[in-house]
This record gives sequence, C-alpha cells and structure tokens, in this order.
Amino acid sequence: MAKASIGVVGLGVMGRNLVLNIERNGFHVAVYNRTQSKMQAFLQGEAAGKHITGSDSYPALMAQLEKPRCVLLMVTAGSAVDAGIEEIKPFLEPGDILIDGGNSYFMDTERRSLALTAEGLHFVGMGVSGGEEGALWGPSIMPGGTPEAWQALAPILRKIAAKAEEDGEPCVTHIGPRGAGHYVKTVHNGIEYADMQLIAEIYDLLSRGAGLPAAELAGIFDEWNRGELRSYLIEITAKILRRTDEITGKPLVEMVLDEAQQKGTGKWTSQNAFDIGAPIPTINAAVESRILSSLKAERVAASRVLRGPSPRFTGDRAALVEAARAALYASKILSYAQGMSLLRIASAEYDYHLDLAEIARIWRAGCIIRAGLLGDITAAYRRNPALSNLLLDDAFRQAVESRQAALRHVLQTAIGLGIPALALGSALAYYDAYRSERLPANLTQAQRDFFGAHTYRRVDQEGIFHTDWE
Ligand code: 6PG
Repeated sequence: MAKASIGVVGLGVMGRNLVLNIERNGFHVAVYNRTQSKMQAFLQGEAAGKHITGSDSYPALMAQLEKPRCVLLMVTAGSAVDAGIEEIKPFLEPGDILIDGGNSYFMDTERRSLALTAEGLHFVGMGVSGGEEGALWGPSIMPGGTPEAWQALAPILRKIAAKAEEDGEPCVTHIGPRGAGHYVKTVHNGIEYADMQLIAEIYDLLSRGAGLPAAELAGIFDEWNRGELRSYLIEITAKILRRTDEITGKPLVEMVLDEAQQKGTGKWTSQNAFDIGAPIPTINAAVESRILSSLKAERVAASRVLRGPSPRFTGDRAALVEAARAALYASKILSYAQGMSLLRIASAEYDYHLDLAEIARIWRAGCIIRAGLLGDITAAYRRNPALSNLLLDDAFRQAVESRQAALRHVLQTAIGLGIPALALGSALAYYDAYRSERLPANLTQAQRDFFGAHTYRRVDQEGIFHTDWE
C-alpha cells in the first residue's frame, strides 16, 4: 500500500475531523490514538472505507509515513503536548516535521521549537480556528515554523483550509517562525472575545434596555448580517436568539446561566499586550467582562443593595436599533485596529515578520471571527503594508468618523440606563485617546515626580527634569 502523506496523533473531535477533511481532499492519513479502542471505533465508523489506516504504536505509525514524515499532534494544550513530543521524538529523524495543532501558549511553542530545532527536527505550532465544523469542512489555519516545513505541508493545508468567497483563495499562509502561528491564533481569540462582548452589550441594551423580545432581535441580527456587519458571530447570534427552550417554551438564550467561562487564550492576549506595551482596551474589557460575569453569587447579592437608574428605555426604539448597528460596526473596527496593532508591535518584539494583509486575508473564512470587514482590512494593509494603525487608512478613518455619533449616542443611552458597556466604552475611549494630541499623562508624570522623584520631560526643552513640588 502507498505510504501515508501525514500521521495524526490524538483522535478527539478536532483530530478526527481534521483527519476526515485531509482524506476527503485526496490524501492517505495514518492515525494513532493512545486509547486504541477509540481509534478502532473511528476506523470502523466514520473512517470506514476511506484512506485512513490505524497504527498500534508510534513505530507502526512512522513506518506508514512518506519521508520527511509529518506528524500532526492533536492533543489538549499544555503538558499533554510536552508528553506527546517526548513519546514521539525517539521515532523521528532529522528533517521530520512535528505539528502541534492545539491552542498552545505561544511561549511554550517557542520553547519546544528551539529544543526540537536543536535536534534537527521541524516543529510547527499551528493555530486552527473554526471549531469542529471548521476542522471538518475547512478551517482557517495559522502555521508557524520554518519555510521548509511550510513547503512540505502547504499542499495539504491549502487543500483542507476554508476558501474565501471573494476569490476562492485558501485561508492559510505561512505565518512566521517559531511561535508565530500560535501567537496569531491567540490574538485571533482575543479579537473573538472582543467581538462576542460587543455583540453581548448591544444585545443587553436592546433587550433589557429597549425591551425588544428575542425573536424580534433575531430578525434584527439577521438583517444586520446582510449588511456591513456580515459575519459568522452575527449569523449565529440570530440563530441563538431564535431558538426556543423545549422545557419552558421561552427563548433558550434566556435560560442560559449568565456566567461566561474561558479557556485562557483571551487572557493570554491581554497578558501579552501588557508585556509588550500594546494598548488593546476592548479585548481587555472583554476578558474583564467574562470575569465580572463569573461573580454571579456576588452580583446577585449586590443587585439587592446597590441602586441605579431604571434600565427601561422610553425613547425611539427604531432609532436606537439603527444607532446600535452603526455603533457595533464602529466599535468592531476600533477593536480590530487594536488587535492588528498588537500584531504589528509583537512582530517587531519577537521578530515574527508578520504580514498583516495575509493574516487578515486568512481570517476571511473558516475561523470564528470571519467577517466581511476582514476583506476590507486585507485591502487596507495591501494598500499600505506599513500602516501603523488601521484607523489611519482613509476608508476606515471615514467609516469610524461617520459612525462615531451613533457610538456616542448608544453609550450615552447605556450609561443613562445603567447598562454596563465595558467593551463599547473602551472602543470609543481608544478612539478618543488615540486621536488626542495631548493626554493628561502630564499630570501622571508630575505626580510620579512629586511622590517618587521619578523625573519628567518638558514639552519645550530637551532633558530630564525633577521639581521639588512642595
Ligand atoms: C476557534 C476558537 C476556539 C476556542 C473557543 C473557546 O478559533 O475555533 O477560538 O479555538 O477554543 O472559542 O475559547 P474560550 O473557551 O476561551 O471561550
């Protein structure tokens, strides 16, 4: 039998779906799973009759593979990846390619990459977005690693990746060296958190504030999905809002406990942005909002003692809905501007040589944040690859300028009603801060100098100054 093009280790749902996707695209796949009964169930079930062959050991897996051997590890991020690498390594030889397709922390990928490179192996930290369906039918793929590893993997990855509607191009590109792929996947998830939180805040304003029932909101989101807000997250929001609970007959979304969980990628984005000095207030606000939501018991107790205005909106609902649409689009642009400039700063910090146009291009389909907007972001970075901030691109500058009144109106309404809007508020504050020639940091510097003699610089002369302020 002809050798297999790739080996996949770990047959959880993401692993199984990627195997089926690779095979459907014309490649023979060899698989291995530590729990052999799980592998047998897969081989006799979904994989039956396909070019997918099992192995009962790592040597047996390696013997099935073409050289250089490509092994895709699909195990839970963290210690399982290190354990998997240690188990497989003795059977690899220089030139072989080991791929980690999980949501690994990029610094772990940096470490693994250095260690494996020293042994002559190629290590590819590969971000994969799109959930279970994406893995099966076409994810957006963010592989890091050496150009040689990319050359070897590209024929498979190009085939299995999602194809953008606009030009049919596969949503995969060589992201950069070492941990670059996992870094970009992490920032993707940070942007995903921000997108989700912005939508949640608009939902809160329109449902709790304006009193719009879920079914009506579903129609509004459907309509928004046909315009500039067109995106996967808006599309699924409409579907979620339309779903009725079989037990109570109420909208199912209202029966879901309001405590957001997280696996950590959003938090990593914030932590890293603090480390490298990149302002991403809207992603931070999204992470904070999940943490705040998780304090359910405290919130319930506080809701009985802390008073605020009535959240009932009494103004023109149709006008609020229209403002909400424009505000959501403007805040989404502001959030992407933050995420893209984080990538630019990280690229310099870690020597990743990231191509922002390419990254936006491969996010146009397959991934969770896929959106019409990403085509425009791709175009902006193609027009000017050195763009320091998306907001300075003419098209985006105008898009935010023409919607800022709506964003201010929506925030004023939310504040008046006592409805929290951390992410929307942070997006506008980012805009106002970024466009301010002068910020009150002069006072901060004066205070630092007052209490700690930390010194300051002056606006009118070069040099470092200290004042005895009292
Ligand atoms: C994707 C997603 C996925 C992530 C989930 C859950 O791109 O397919 O980002 O990788 O695991 O969205 O993330 P949280 O549990 O942190 O919300």
